[in-house]
Amino acid sequence: MTSREETILRHFDGEAPIYDELILKLIPRYPEMIDALVSALPFATEAEIHVLDLGCGTGSVAAAVLHRFPNACMTCLDAAESMLASARARLARFPNVAFVQTDFGDWRAGAEYNAVLSSLALHHLENDEDKRSFYRRVFHALSEGGLFYNADNVLGASDALDRMYVGKWMAYLDANVGEKEARDVWLPRYRAEDRPARLVDQLHWLEAIGFRDVDIVWKRFNFAVYGGAKRSGA
Ligand SMILES: C[S@@+](CC[C@H](N)C(=O)[O-])C[C@H]1O[C@@H](n2cnc3c(N)ncnc32)[C@H](O)[C@@H]1O
Repeated sequence: MTSREETILRHFDGEAPIYDELILKLIPRYPEMIDALVSALPFATEAEIHVLDLGCGTGSVAAAVLHRFPNACMTCLDAAESMLASARARLARFPNVAFVQTDFGDWRAGAEYNAVLSSLALHHLENDEDKRSFYRRVFHALSEGGLFYNADNVLGASDALDRMYVGKWMAYLDANVGEKEARDVWLPRYRAEDRPARLVDQLHWLEAIGFRDVDIVWKRFNFAVYGGAKRSGA
């Protein structure tokens, strides 16, 4: 694990107790984004689907999946122990939830999931090649017909768009945590720890890997929900 990755996990471990409150202040329309992520799953309400949440944090995605699909079997994966402890507490009433503490770099799975979801986590992968090879592993982890959707912060197609996106995000942070905290804490942390990739590139990578029906389900400036299906045939 690199020192950047260790710093990221230390931050999340420390933030677990306040994370659910904090994320609403930091991410514009976070509940709407999570709703879009889960709404992309077309399964019947009673379906006994196997769903993996990569970088589950305190379990908000898993909770939304189980609310919508009460018979789902969830696997919640995260490297940060405190985040997993919060997820365990939040999801304690659901019987079919497994928790896995591992780093994305060490994660491998066979074709066992009907859906793989992730929210605000995969932008921590270091570079474009790491993301591409991770998406290949996600493809292998899906069963036939399985779906992958990622809700994440992304780069625009040009520097001008990125400047505008970050400006809009800063305006949101100014209103929620104050200008000083936005400039002194969150912008530097974004620059140091986050490695978002261009959304348009990611859509091309997914198609090149073999995903079908690749699409953007939801987008607000530099936050987007996107993904596709593993499906053979036309
Ligand atoms: C911003 S939080 C998102 C949590 C949750 N998905 C949500 O939407 O609220 C990012 C999560 O990804 C996890 N994470 C970051 N890098 C990771 C890595 N390399 N391996 C596993 N988990 C990682 C962190 O521990 C953290 O819980």
